Amino acid sequence: MSRILSKIGKIGRRAMKREMLTSHVSGLSILSEDILKTDVEDWKNETVVFAWQGEDHRPLKKALEIKEGSTIFSIASSGYNPSMLLLENPAKIVMVDNNPSQIAWCMLYFSAIKNLTYEEFRSLIGFGKGGTTTSDERGRIYDSLRGSLPSKALVYWDFHRETMSKSGMYLFATCLRLWGLEKFAPIAHSQETLDKFLSFADIGQQRVFYEEQWDTWRWRRAFILAHLNISPTIFRPFMDLLPDLAPRWLNRFREICTSVPNMDNPHIEIFLTNKISGKYSLPDFWKREYFAPIRDRLDRFELIHVDANEYFERTSEKFDGFVLSNVGDAYSKGEHDQWVTRAIKRGKPGSRITYLSVAGTDKGWPDAEKDSIQVEQELSDSLVIQGVERGILWDDLHIATLKN
Ligand SMILES: C[S@@+](CC[C@H](N)C(=O)[O-])C[C@H]1O[C@@H](n2cnc3c(N)ncnc32)[C@H](O)[C@@H]1O
Repeated sequence: MSRILSKIGKIGRRAMKREMLTSHVSGLSILSEDILKTDVEDWKNETVVFAWQGEDHRPLKKALEIKEGSTIFSIASSGYNPSMLLLENPAKIVMVDNNPSQIAWCMLYFSAIKNLTYEEFRSLIGFGKGGTTTSDERGRIYDSLRGSLPSKALVYWDFHRETMSKSGMYLFATCLRLWGLEKFAPIAHSQETLDKFLSFADIGQQRVFYEEQWDTWRWRRAFILAHLNISPTIFRPFMDLLPDLAPRWLNRFREICTSVPNMDNPHIEIFLTNKISGKYSLPDFWKREYFAPIRDRLDRFELIHVDANEYFERTSEKFDGFVLSNVGDAYSKGEHDQWVTRAIKRGKPGSRITYLSVAGTDKGWPDAEKDSIQVEQELSDSLVIQGVERGILWDDLHIATLKN
Protein backbone atom coordinates (compact mmCIF):
# COMPACT_ATOMS: atom_id res chain seq x y z
CA MET A 1 0.00 0.00 0.00
CA SER A 2 2.71 2.50 0.96
CA ARG A 3 4.34 2.01 -2.48
CA ILE A 4 1.04 2.99 -4.10
CA LEU A 5 0.70 5.97 -1.80
CA SER A 6 4.14 7.30 -2.60
CA LYS A 7 3.52 6.79 -6.32
CA ILE A 8 0.33 8.87 -6.12
CA GLY A 9 2.28 11.45 -4.16
CA LYS A 10 4.81 11.75 -6.98
CA ILE A 11 2.10 12.09 -9.61
CA GLY A 12 0.48 14.78 -7.50
CA ARG A 13 3.76 16.64 -6.94
CA ARG A 14 4.47 16.79 -10.65
CA ALA A 15 0.96 17.87 -11.46
CA MET A 16 0.24 20.57 -8.88
CA LYS A 17 1.80 23.14 -6.66
CA ARG A 18 2.66 21.78 -3.24
CA GLU A 19 -0.46 22.99 -1.42
CA MET A 20 -2.72 20.93 -3.67
CA LEU A 21 -1.09 17.56 -3.19
CA THR A 22 -3.07 14.46 -2.47
CA SER A 23 -2.16 13.39 1.03
CA HIS A 24 -1.12 10.02 2.34
CA VAL A 25 -3.31 9.07 5.23
CA SER A 26 -2.69 5.59 6.54
CA GLY A 27 -5.06 2.99 5.16
CA LEU A 28 -6.57 5.27 2.52
CA SER A 29 -4.72 6.78 -0.38
CA ILE A 30 -7.33 9.13 -1.72
CA LEU A 31 -7.53 11.81 0.91
CA SER A 32 -6.93 15.46 0.15
CA GLU A 33 -4.81 17.34 2.63
CA ASP A 34 -6.26 20.66 1.54
CA ILE A 35 -9.12 20.62 4.00
CA LEU A 36 -6.38 20.30 6.59
CA LYS A 37 -5.43 23.87 5.72
CA THR A 38 -8.92 25.21 6.37
CA ASP A 39 -10.27 26.18 9.77
CA VAL A 40 -12.71 23.37 10.49
CA GLU A 41 -14.67 25.68 12.81
CA ASP A 42 -15.66 27.64 9.66
CA TRP A 43 -17.33 24.67 8.01
CA LYS A 44 -18.03 22.23 10.84
CA ASN A 45 -21.75 23.11 10.95
CA GLU A 46 -22.30 22.51 7.26
CA THR A 47 -23.86 19.26 6.27
CA VAL A 48 -22.89 18.00 2.88
CA VAL A 49 -25.15 19.62 0.32
CA PHE A 50 -25.19 17.10 -2.50
CA ALA A 51 -25.53 13.38 -1.97
CA TRP A 52 -26.43 12.23 -5.45
CA GLN A 53 -28.94 14.72 -6.67
CA GLY A 54 -29.99 13.07 -9.85
CA GLU A 55 -26.82 12.71 -11.93
CA ASP A 56 -26.59 9.40 -13.73
CA HIS A 57 -23.32 7.61 -14.40
CA ARG A 58 -24.62 5.55 -17.35
CA PRO A 59 -24.73 8.41 -19.89
CA LEU A 60 -21.35 9.59 -18.53
CA LYS A 61 -19.89 6.16 -19.15
CA LYS A 62 -21.32 6.07 -22.65
CA ALA A 63 -20.09 9.58 -23.44
CA LEU A 64 -16.57 9.21 -22.01
CA GLU A 65 -15.77 5.81 -23.59
CA ILE A 66 -13.01 5.45 -21.01
CA LYS A 67 -10.01 3.54 -22.29
CA GLU A 68 -7.86 1.44 -20.03
CA GLY A 69 -5.08 3.52 -18.51
CA SER A 70 -6.69 6.90 -19.15
CA THR A 71 -6.87 9.89 -16.79
CA ILE A 72 -10.28 11.33 -15.97
CA PHE A 73 -11.33 14.57 -14.30
CA SER A 74 -14.55 14.62 -12.28
CA ILE A 75 -16.27 16.96 -9.91
CA ALA A 76 -16.31 14.96 -6.67
CA SER A 77 -19.76 15.75 -5.25
CA SER A 78 -20.40 12.64 -3.12
CA GLY A 79 -18.16 10.40 -5.15
CA TYR A 80 -20.90 8.05 -6.36
CA ASN A 81 -20.51 8.54 -10.09
CA PRO A 82 -16.69 8.65 -10.03
CA SER A 83 -16.78 5.30 -8.24
CA MET A 84 -18.71 3.76 -11.14
CA LEU A 85 -16.24 5.23 -13.63
CA LEU A 86 -13.47 3.30 -11.82
CA LEU A 87 -15.03 0.13 -13.20
CA GLU A 88 -14.06 1.26 -16.71
CA ASN A 89 -10.44 0.77 -15.67
CA PRO A 90 -8.91 4.24 -15.96
CA ALA A 91 -5.41 4.69 -14.50
CA LYS A 92 -6.53 7.69 -12.47
CA ILE A 93 -9.59 9.77 -11.63
CA VAL A 94 -8.91 13.21 -10.20
CA MET A 95 -11.92 14.29 -8.13
CA VAL A 96 -12.18 17.95 -7.24
CA ASP A 97 -14.61 19.82 -5.01
CA ASN A 98 -14.50 23.30 -3.51
CA ASN A 99 -16.75 22.45 -0.56
CA PRO A 100 -14.78 21.08 2.43
CA SER A 101 -17.78 19.31 3.97
CA GLN A 102 -18.31 17.54 0.65
CA ILE A 103 -14.66 16.42 0.76
CA ALA A 104 -15.10 15.22 4.36
CA TRP A 105 -18.17 13.31 3.16
CA CYS A 106 -16.13 11.58 0.44
CA MET A 107 -13.42 10.70 2.95
CA LEU A 108 -15.82 8.82 5.19
CA TYR A 109 -17.67 7.30 2.24
CA PHE A 110 -14.55 5.86 0.62
CA SER A 111 -13.11 4.80 3.94
CA ALA A 112 -16.36 2.88 4.45
CA ILE A 113 -15.96 1.08 1.11
CA LYS A 114 -12.34 0.34 1.89
CA ASN A 115 -12.74 -0.91 5.45
CA LEU A 116 -16.25 -2.30 5.93
CA THR A 117 -18.11 -5.40 4.85
CA TYR A 118 -20.91 -4.79 2.34
CA GLU A 119 -23.53 -5.25 5.11
CA GLU A 120 -21.81 -2.68 7.35
CA PHE A 121 -21.44 -0.27 4.42
CA ARG A 122 -25.14 -0.56 3.60
CA SER A 123 -26.00 0.12 7.24
CA LEU A 124 -23.78 3.19 7.45
CA ILE A 125 -25.14 4.70 4.23
CA GLY A 126 -28.72 3.66 5.08
CA PHE A 127 -30.18 1.94 2.04
CA GLY A 128 -32.00 -1.32 1.47
CA LYS A 129 -32.05 -3.61 4.48
CA GLY A 130 -29.34 -1.43 6.03
CA GLY A 131 -31.84 1.44 6.15
CA THR A 132 -33.42 -0.18 9.20
CA THR A 133 -30.19 -0.40 11.21
CA THR A 134 -30.34 1.21 14.66
CA SER A 135 -28.55 4.49 15.44
CA ASP A 136 -26.38 2.63 17.96
CA GLU A 137 -25.23 0.16 15.34
CA ARG A 138 -24.44 2.96 12.89
CA GLY A 139 -22.54 4.82 15.58
CA ARG A 140 -20.49 1.70 16.27
CA ILE A 141 -19.72 1.29 12.56
CA TYR A 142 -18.71 4.94 12.34
CA ASP A 143 -16.44 4.56 15.39
CA SER A 144 -14.64 1.68 13.70
CA LEU A 145 -13.69 4.06 10.85
CA ARG A 146 -12.53 6.99 12.99
CA GLY A 147 -8.88 5.91 12.85
CA SER A 148 -8.88 6.19 9.04
CA LEU A 149 -9.93 9.85 8.95
CA PRO A 150 -7.58 12.84 8.95
CA SER A 151 -7.98 15.16 11.93
CA LYS A 152 -10.36 17.77 10.44
CA ALA A 153 -12.62 15.24 8.77
CA LEU A 154 -12.69 13.53 12.16
CA VAL A 155 -13.68 16.77 13.93
CA TYR A 156 -16.42 17.22 11.34
CA TRP A 157 -17.84 13.72 11.62
CA ASP A 158 -17.54 13.49 15.40
CA PHE A 159 -19.56 16.71 15.53
CA HIS A 160 -22.29 15.16 13.32
CA ARG A 161 -21.99 11.58 14.61
CA GLU A 162 -25.37 11.51 16.32
CA THR A 163 -27.40 13.09 13.49
CA MET A 164 -25.73 10.95 10.85
CA SER A 165 -26.20 7.81 12.96
CA LYS A 166 -29.94 8.45 13.12
CA SER A 167 -30.50 8.72 9.36
CA GLY A 168 -27.46 7.10 7.72
CA MET A 169 -24.97 9.03 5.59
CA TYR A 170 -27.24 9.31 2.58
CA LEU A 171 -30.16 11.07 4.24
CA PHE A 172 -27.77 13.14 6.36
CA ALA A 173 -27.23 15.31 3.26
CA THR A 174 -28.93 18.68 3.44
CA CYS A 175 -30.33 18.77 -0.07
CA LEU A 176 -32.24 15.54 0.36
CA ARG A 177 -33.81 16.71 3.60
CA LEU A 178 -34.69 20.11 2.14
CA TRP A 179 -35.86 18.82 -1.20
CA GLY A 180 -38.79 17.19 0.60
CA LEU A 181 -40.33 15.89 -2.61
CA GLU A 182 -41.45 12.69 -0.93
CA LYS A 183 -44.45 14.64 0.33
CA PHE A 184 -46.06 15.20 -3.05
CA ALA A 185 -46.55 11.71 -4.53
CA PRO A 186 -48.94 10.64 -1.69
CA ILE A 187 -51.13 13.67 -2.51
CA ALA A 188 -51.76 12.21 -5.94
CA HIS A 189 -51.51 8.46 -5.50
CA SER A 190 -52.17 5.74 -2.92
CA GLN A 191 -49.31 3.68 -1.48
CA GLU A 192 -50.56 0.74 -3.51
CA THR A 193 -50.38 2.68 -6.80
CA LEU A 194 -46.93 4.02 -5.88
CA ASP A 195 -45.65 0.50 -5.07
CA LYS A 196 -47.01 -0.82 -8.34
CA PHE A 197 -45.45 2.06 -10.33
CA LEU A 198 -42.04 1.52 -8.74
CA SER A 199 -42.05 -2.21 -9.39
CA PHE A 200 -42.37 -2.25 -13.22
CA ALA A 201 -39.60 -4.17 -14.95
CA ASP A 202 -41.26 -4.06 -18.37
CA ILE A 203 -41.24 -0.69 -20.14
CA GLY A 204 -44.29 -1.51 -22.31
CA GLN A 205 -46.45 -2.24 -19.25
CA GLN A 206 -45.04 0.80 -17.44
CA ARG A 207 -45.96 3.08 -20.37
CA VAL A 208 -49.54 1.86 -20.37
CA PHE A 209 -49.78 2.25 -16.59
CA TYR A 210 -48.30 5.77 -16.83
CA GLU A 211 -50.83 6.91 -19.40
CA GLU A 212 -53.84 5.19 -17.88
CA GLN A 213 -53.29 5.42 -14.14
CA TRP A 214 -50.33 7.53 -13.15
CA ASP A 215 -50.60 10.67 -15.25
CA THR A 216 -53.70 12.13 -13.61
CA TRP A 217 -54.65 15.78 -13.24
CA ARG A 218 -54.00 15.44 -9.49
CA TRP A 219 -50.49 14.05 -10.13
CA ARG A 220 -49.55 16.86 -12.50
CA ARG A 221 -50.85 19.49 -10.12
CA ALA A 222 -49.06 17.99 -7.07
CA PHE A 223 -45.83 17.76 -9.09
CA ILE A 224 -45.97 21.39 -10.23
CA LEU A 225 -46.85 22.76 -6.78
CA ALA A 226 -44.10 20.74 -5.08
CA HIS A 227 -41.52 22.08 -7.54
CA LEU A 228 -42.69 25.65 -7.23
CA ASN A 229 -41.99 25.35 -3.50
CA ILE A 230 -38.48 23.92 -3.50
CA SER A 231 -36.28 25.42 -0.79
CA PRO A 232 -34.17 28.40 -1.96
CA THR A 233 -31.30 26.94 0.07
CA ILE A 234 -30.74 24.36 -2.64
CA PHE A 235 -32.13 26.09 -5.70
CA ARG A 236 -31.12 29.69 -5.17
CA PRO A 237 -29.92 30.43 -8.74
CA PHE A 238 -33.22 29.15 -10.15
CA MET A 239 -35.92 30.56 -7.89
CA ASP A 240 -37.18 33.02 -10.54
CA LEU A 241 -37.16 30.26 -13.14
CA LEU A 242 -39.21 27.74 -11.15
CA PRO A 243 -42.54 28.51 -12.91
CA ASP A 244 -40.74 27.63 -16.15
CA LEU A 245 -38.76 24.72 -14.75
CA ALA A 246 -41.58 22.89 -13.00
CA PRO A 247 -43.48 21.98 -16.23
CA ARG A 248 -40.18 21.13 -17.95
CA TRP A 249 -39.30 18.73 -15.13
CA LEU A 250 -42.78 17.21 -15.37
CA ASN A 251 -42.25 16.59 -19.11
CA ARG A 252 -38.83 15.16 -18.45
CA PHE A 253 -40.24 12.87 -15.75
CA ARG A 254 -42.76 11.56 -18.27
CA GLU A 255 -40.05 11.16 -20.93
CA ILE A 256 -37.80 9.16 -18.57
CA CYS A 257 -40.64 7.04 -17.18
CA THR A 258 -41.77 6.08 -20.66
CA SER A 259 -38.18 5.13 -21.67
CA VAL A 260 -36.74 3.22 -18.69
CA PRO A 261 -38.48 0.67 -16.45
CA ASN A 262 -38.54 1.88 -12.86
CA MET A 263 -36.93 -1.35 -11.68
CA ASP A 264 -33.86 -0.13 -13.60
CA ASN A 265 -34.11 3.48 -12.43
CA PRO A 266 -33.34 4.21 -8.77
CA HIS A 267 -33.82 7.95 -9.42
CA ILE A 268 -37.59 7.41 -9.44
CA GLU A 269 -37.85 5.87 -5.98
CA ILE A 270 -35.56 8.53 -4.50
CA PHE A 271 -37.51 11.25 -6.24
CA LEU A 272 -40.89 9.99 -5.08
CA THR A 273 -40.07 8.68 -1.60
CA ASN A 274 -36.69 10.19 -0.63
CA LYS A 275 -35.27 6.78 0.11
CA ILE A 276 -33.87 3.62 -1.41
CA SER A 277 -35.83 0.85 0.25
CA GLY A 278 -34.05 -2.02 -1.51
CA LYS A 279 -37.42 -3.32 -2.77
CA TYR A 280 -37.05 -1.76 -6.22
CA SER A 281 -33.99 -0.48 -8.09
CA LEU A 282 -30.61 0.04 -6.40
CA PRO A 283 -28.10 2.54 -7.79
CA ASP A 284 -25.32 0.53 -9.44
CA PHE A 285 -22.72 2.05 -7.11
CA TRP A 286 -24.52 0.44 -4.15
CA LYS A 287 -25.01 -2.98 -5.70
CA ARG A 288 -23.25 -5.84 -3.95
CA GLU A 289 -21.54 -7.03 -7.15
CA TYR A 290 -19.73 -3.70 -7.64
CA PHE A 291 -18.67 -3.22 -4.01
CA ALA A 292 -15.42 -5.22 -4.15
CA PRO A 293 -14.42 -4.10 -7.69
CA ILE A 294 -14.78 -0.43 -6.61
CA ARG A 295 -12.84 -1.08 -3.40
CA ASP A 296 -10.02 -2.75 -5.34
CA ARG A 297 -9.50 0.40 -7.42
CA LEU A 298 -9.88 3.13 -4.80
CA ASP A 299 -6.19 3.94 -4.96
CA ARG A 300 -6.75 5.30 -8.47
CA PHE A 301 -8.58 8.28 -6.97
CA GLU A 302 -7.04 11.62 -6.14
CA LEU A 303 -9.41 13.75 -4.09
CA ILE A 304 -8.55 17.44 -4.10
CA HIS A 305 -10.19 20.27 -2.23
CA VAL A 306 -9.95 23.23 -4.58
CA ASP A 307 -12.07 25.38 -6.88
CA ALA A 308 -12.04 23.46 -10.16
CA ASN A 309 -11.44 26.66 -12.17
CA GLU A 310 -8.30 27.24 -10.15
CA TYR A 311 -7.32 23.61 -10.50
CA PHE A 312 -7.48 23.79 -14.31
CA GLU A 313 -5.40 26.98 -14.28
CA ARG A 314 -2.69 25.45 -12.11
CA THR A 315 -2.42 21.77 -12.94
CA SER A 316 -0.10 20.43 -15.61
CA GLU A 317 -2.21 17.25 -15.84
CA LYS A 318 -3.82 16.42 -19.19
CA PHE A 319 -7.08 14.48 -19.21
CA ASP A 320 -8.81 11.93 -21.45
CA GLY A 321 -12.27 12.76 -20.17
CA PHE A 322 -14.14 15.34 -18.08
CA VAL A 323 -17.22 15.22 -15.87
CA LEU A 324 -17.99 18.88 -15.23
CA SER A 325 -21.32 18.08 -13.56
CA ASN A 326 -23.70 21.04 -13.55
CA VAL A 327 -21.23 23.38 -11.83
CA GLY A 328 -21.76 25.87 -14.71
CA ASP A 329 -25.44 26.27 -13.79
CA ALA A 330 -24.37 28.75 -11.13
CA TYR A 331 -22.43 30.84 -13.68
CA SER A 332 -23.29 33.60 -16.15
CA LYS A 333 -22.83 32.71 -19.84
CA GLY A 334 -19.39 34.41 -19.79
CA GLU A 335 -18.27 32.49 -16.69
CA HIS A 336 -19.68 29.26 -18.12
CA ASP A 337 -17.67 29.77 -21.32
CA GLN A 338 -14.51 30.36 -19.28
CA TRP A 339 -15.19 27.29 -17.12
CA VAL A 340 -15.67 24.96 -20.10
CA THR A 341 -12.73 26.55 -21.95
CA ARG A 342 -10.45 25.90 -18.98
CA ALA A 343 -11.38 22.22 -19.18
CA ILE A 344 -10.87 22.16 -22.96
CA LYS A 345 -7.32 23.50 -22.45
CA ARG A 346 -6.53 20.57 -20.15
CA GLY A 347 -7.86 17.91 -22.55
CA LYS A 348 -5.85 15.55 -24.72
CA PRO A 349 -6.84 15.32 -28.40
CA GLY A 350 -9.82 12.96 -28.69
CA SER A 351 -10.85 13.50 -25.09
CA ARG A 352 -14.54 13.81 -24.26
CA ILE A 353 -15.89 16.72 -22.26
CA THR A 354 -19.30 16.49 -20.60
CA TYR A 355 -21.41 18.96 -18.67
CA LEU A 356 -24.98 19.05 -17.43
CA SER A 357 -27.52 21.83 -17.26
CA VAL A 358 -30.83 22.05 -15.45
CA ALA A 359 -33.61 21.35 -18.00
CA GLY A 360 -34.08 24.24 -20.41
CA THR A 361 -31.21 26.36 -19.08
CA ASP A 362 -28.27 25.30 -21.27
CA LYS A 363 -25.75 28.10 -21.85
CA GLY A 364 -24.09 26.28 -24.75
CA TRP A 365 -20.50 25.51 -25.70
CA PRO A 366 -18.16 28.50 -25.92
CA ASP A 367 -18.29 30.07 -29.42
CA ALA A 368 -14.57 30.83 -29.35
CA GLU A 369 -13.84 27.08 -29.05
CA LYS A 370 -16.10 25.89 -31.87
CA ASP A 371 -13.14 24.99 -34.11
CA SER A 372 -11.40 23.01 -31.39
CA ILE A 373 -14.32 20.76 -30.44
CA GLN A 374 -16.80 18.48 -32.16
CA VAL A 375 -20.19 18.71 -30.43
CA GLU A 376 -21.63 15.17 -30.21
CA GLN A 377 -25.27 16.12 -30.73
CA GLU A 378 -26.39 12.76 -32.09
CA LEU A 379 -24.92 10.93 -29.12
CA SER A 380 -26.60 13.37 -26.70
CA ASP A 381 -29.95 13.02 -28.47
CA SER A 382 -29.78 9.23 -28.30
CA LEU A 383 -29.34 9.00 -24.52
CA VAL A 384 -32.98 9.39 -23.49
CA ILE A 385 -34.41 7.60 -26.53
CA GLN A 386 -32.23 4.55 -25.85
CA GLY A 387 -33.07 4.57 -22.15
CA VAL A 388 -29.46 5.32 -21.13
CA GLU A 389 -30.28 8.60 -19.33
CA ARG A 390 -32.33 8.16 -16.15
CA GLY A 391 -31.94 11.55 -14.43
CA ILE A 392 -34.97 13.84 -14.33
CA LEU A 393 -33.67 17.33 -13.72
CA TRP A 394 -31.47 17.84 -16.74
CA ASP A 395 -31.21 18.66 -20.40
CA ASP A 396 -29.64 15.80 -22.36
CA LEU A 397 -25.99 15.42 -21.33
CA HIS A 398 -23.79 17.87 -23.28
CA ILE A 399 -20.92 16.02 -24.93
CA ALA A 400 -18.04 17.25 -27.10
CA THR A 401 -14.86 15.65 -28.44
CA LEU A 402 -11.64 17.62 -28.48
CA LYS A 403 -10.25 17.77 -32.04
CA ASN A 404 -6.62 16.97 -32.79
C1 LIG B 1 -22.78 21.16 -9.03
S1 LIG B 1 -23.18 20.15 -7.63
C2 LIG B 1 -24.48 19.18 -8.27
C3 LIG B 1 -24.74 17.84 -7.66
C4 LIG B 1 -24.85 16.74 -8.66
N1 LIG B 1 -25.94 17.01 -9.58
C5 LIG B 1 -24.98 15.35 -8.05
O1 LIG B 1 -25.80 14.55 -8.51
O2 LIG B 1 -24.25 15.06 -7.11
C6 LIG B 1 -21.84 19.06 -7.54
C7 LIG B 1 -20.69 19.50 -6.71
O3 LIG B 1 -20.00 20.57 -7.34
C8 LIG B 1 -19.26 21.23 -6.34
N2 LIG B 1 -18.82 22.50 -6.92
C9 LIG B 1 -19.58 23.55 -7.29
N3 LIG B 1 -18.80 24.52 -7.83
C10 LIG B 1 -17.51 24.05 -7.82
C11 LIG B 1 -16.27 24.57 -8.23
N4 LIG B 1 -16.17 25.79 -8.79
N5 LIG B 1 -15.17 23.81 -8.07
C12 LIG B 1 -15.24 22.59 -7.50
N6 LIG B 1 -16.39 22.04 -7.09
C13 LIG B 1 -17.53 22.75 -7.24
C14 LIG B 1 -20.24 21.32 -5.19
O4 LIG B 1 -19.58 21.54 -3.96
C15 LIG B 1 -20.92 19.95 -5.26
O5 LIG B 1 -20.30 19.04 -4.43
